[in-house]
Parts: sequence; structure tokens; C-alpha cells
Amino acid sequence: MAKVKSKFVCQNCGYESAGYLGKCPDCGSWSSFIEEYTGIESKNIPIEISDSNPPVQLSKIETNSEIRIKTKISEFDRVLGGGIVKGSLVLIAGDPGIGKSTILLQASGKLCEAEKRVLYISAEESASQIKLRAERLGVKSDNLYIYPQTNFELIKKHIEEMSPDLVIVDSIQAIYTNTVQSSAGSVSQIRECCNYLMGIAKSNNISIIIIGHVTKEGNIAGPKVLEHMVDTVIQFEGDKYKSYRILRSVKNRFGNTSEVGIFEMGGDGLKEIINPSQMFLKEYGQTKTPGSTIIVTNEGTRPLLVEIQALVGTTPYPAPRRVANGVDLSRLLQILAVLEKRIGLNLSKQDVYLNVIGGMDVDEPAADLGIALAIITCVRDVVCDPQTAIVGEIGLSGEIRGVNHIEKRITEAQKLGFKRIIIPEANEIQNEIKGIEIIKVKRIVEAITKAIAKNDLHV
Ligand SMILES: Nc1ncnc2c1ncn2[C@@H]1O[C@H](COP(=O)(O)OP(=O)(O)O)[C@@H](O)[C@H]1O
Ligand SMILES: [Mg+2]
Ligand SMILES: [Zn+2]
Repeated sequence: MAKVKSKFVCQNCGYESAGYLGKCPDCGSWSSFIEEYTGIESKNIPIEISDSNPPVQLSKIETNSEIRIKTKISEFDRVLGGGIVKGSLVLIAGDPGIGKSTILLQASGKLCEAEKRVLYISAEESASQIKLRAERLGVKSDNLYIYPQTNFELIKKHIEEMSPDLVIVDSIQAIYTNTVQSSAGSVSQIRECCNYLMGIAKSNNISIIIIGHVTKEGNIAGPKVLEHMVDTVIQFEGDKYKSYRILRSVKNRFGNTSEVGIFEMGGDGLKEIINPSQMFLKEYGQTKTPGSTIIVTNEGTRPLLVEIQALVGTTPYPAPRRVANGVDLSRLLQILAVLEKRIGLNLSKQDVYLNVIGGMDVDEPAADLGIALAIITCVRDVVCDPQTAIVGEIGLSGEIRGVNHIEKRITEAQKLGFKRIIIPEANEIQNEIKGIEIIKVKRIVEAITKAIAKNDLHV
């Protein structure tokens, strides 16, 4: 009766097939199928099905706003939407070495100081390795329990016995359940373990944070399925060569997405950066070079000033190169097309490199005008006024379109000492903002004359 079944599973997206496939019909990856076995045993562990909550009329539902546990690391709480929701399952994903274990150990330490009990399951490192890190980070509390274990059944037993406020699983790729016969880290294992953890979180009302590594391609290793299963997904990003790290929420059932938290990595752990715009602009304005502009982007609920740099030069190649770091390439291509068509900038023999300083990803159209002006000033070899911030989306006919949260953006630029801000004509400002000149523009050409530094205007 206990027949072992086998199936082939795409290790990228979790697509299942009865036979081996060279190319995944779902996500298109090659040679991603691995044979995995599922025992009949898996049926013995029910995934918390209870019929205790039948359908109810909307008006009869009682609301109790979700209870959040605050870690007091405000940048971390912000990304989570104001703290860890009780009974939620959170995934923190990032490259190895980026600082996932560090931030979670620090957060655990803070929670334990506030008399919460935390169970830290270490599936990758020994207890003494964790102890060493804890000493380095200054984390010490008797409310923190370290449990080096990779077996899910034992982990489950201890979570249920201890019933802590928060469980950390470091990492999901290193644990395995007896009910799946493939090795730890395979899609089936990750999926089952994640499923079981979700069950534990919901039925015991315990918050669980799981750590997941990211593959070379930048996907959360093992699978996209993981993203769909958890309540909240937080990406841990950063520039490998710099010390700052960015936490970004990419999915949140209990809060705003695209919220970011910014940290600096040091010997004693991750420190919050309270004024990130200041940090991103640290090196700005010291040298006045053509091809550099300041934009105000909106990340989640917070405006951020970042520097955009463009480099344009004659290409040695038959086809010119377009490279975009921190900006979507197709967005750059669209802006270039508009510049060629609408203001006659000839870029057909020019390489264009674009860079967002500080390793941020800027993926909102409000950055368009700043990008365009970086390119234009580089081509014309003029300097953009360093006291002027730039905001605006560019439409296909070269018009500047309105952006959201304009007042927040203007206020942030003013706070950081900018004297002027260029914004779309279409944006209306309800409340007066003092200390900054607001310049409204309708078309790119207008923005050019307004943005260029006074002593460079003759060019
Ligand atoms: N002794 C140390 N002094 C300073 N920084 C350290 C030290 N040890 C580790 N780090 C920092 O911590 C990072 C590793 O963090 P960790 O939390 O283990 O990453 P992850 O869990 O994401 O793989 C290293 O890349 C380094 O930046
Ligand atoms: Mg780690
Ligand atoms: Zn696939």
C-alpha cells in the first residue's frame, strides 16, 4: 500500500510532470527537472483542516486589528508594515553573505529584551557559531533559544512545546521533512516544509520568519512557489562593494509593498540609516560633472533622493550599447527613443550607460525626466544645477506627465537643502512649501533650460 511515487519537478518554478522534460513549459528554464519522490506517508500529516469557521455574513464578522510585534529596529518594522504580524509567515530572501542571519539575530535580541521568547532554528550553523555572532552583535538574553536542527519533525515538536512568540528558520533550503524523500533544498522539500510551517504559524498563532537564499539568476532559490505561499516577502539587497543594505518588501498581505529600509553593515552588525537621502547624496556635488542629476523617487511611503549618472560616448561597436544599472532597460530605451524623436538628440552612434548611485533600484516613471536630463547634459557637456532636484514622467510625445505624492517629494528635497525642484506642470500643490522654488515644466526642452547651471547656460 505504501507505494512510493515519483515525479519530475522543475527546480525553478515547481512545475510537475510525470516524465523528464528538457525545458520547462511553465517558466522556460532548461534542464531544471529533477526526479523527486513522495511517500504515501505524507497523507498522515494533515495540513490543519478544521471546519470551525463556516461562512458568515459580512456584517457579523468581528474585526480585531492584527496584532504586531515590534522589533524596535524601526527600518525593519517599517518594511514589515509596522512590525511582525502575529501568526504570519515571513520570507526574507537575499544573496548569501548579505546579512540575513545578522539582521534576524539582532531583531531577536531586541525582542528578547522586550520579554518576548524567540526560537532561532539554525539549520546551517552550529550553536557556537551563532553564539560568536551574537557576542559580536551584543545580543544576549535568556529569552533567546538557539536550536541547531535540520529535521522538520523535530523542529515542529519543539516549536509546539515551547510556543515562542517568534520562530526563525535559518534557512528553508537547509531543512527537510521525513514525508518527502528528495534531498533538502529541492522544490518538493521547500514546498512541503513551507506548507507545514504555515500550518504551525496559523494554528498556534506564532509568527515565523524563514530565510531563503537567492539563486545566481536572482530568483528566490527553489521556487517562486515559496513567494506565493508566505504572507510577506522581503528582499535583502545591497551593493557588494559598499556597506549599505536595503530591505525591500515585495509582497505583504498586511501592509504596503515596495517599502524600503536602509542599513549600514559594520563589525557590530547592521545599523539603521535614519536619513537615507543624505547618505545617497554624500558624494554628490563635490565634483560638478555633466551627466549627473538628482531625482526624488518614492519608495513605499517614503520619498528618497538619489543621484542618476549617465555616460554617453561614441561607440566602437557596430551597434551602440545601452546599459542600465538600477533602472529598467526598456524604460531607458523608451526615454532614448523620445529624446531622439522629440528633441532631435542623435544617439544612433552613441553608447549610453546609466547608473543609479548607491545600488538602489528606481522603477517608477517619475524618474524619467531626471534620467533624460542626465543623458542630455552628458551629450551637451553641460552641468545640471546641483541645487535643483528633478521629478517627472515623460510621455511618448515628449510631454512631462504628473507624478504621485508630489508634496512629499518636494518637502524631502527642501529638507535636504535643495533650492529648486523641477516638477510637472500637471501637478497641483495644495499646501505651500517654503524654502524651495518650484519650477513647473510641460515639455523636455523647457526642463533643459531650467535645469542647467546658470554659468553653463551659454552652451
Ligand atoms: N567579523 C566581522 N566583522 C564585520 N563584518 C562581518 C564580520 N563577520 C561577518 N560580517 C559581515 O556579515 C556578513 C555576513 O552576514 P550573514 O548574516 O551571515 O549573511 P547571510 O546570513 O545573509 O548569509 C558578511 O558579508 C560581512 O559583511
Ligand atoms: Mg546566514
Ligand atoms: Zn519551471
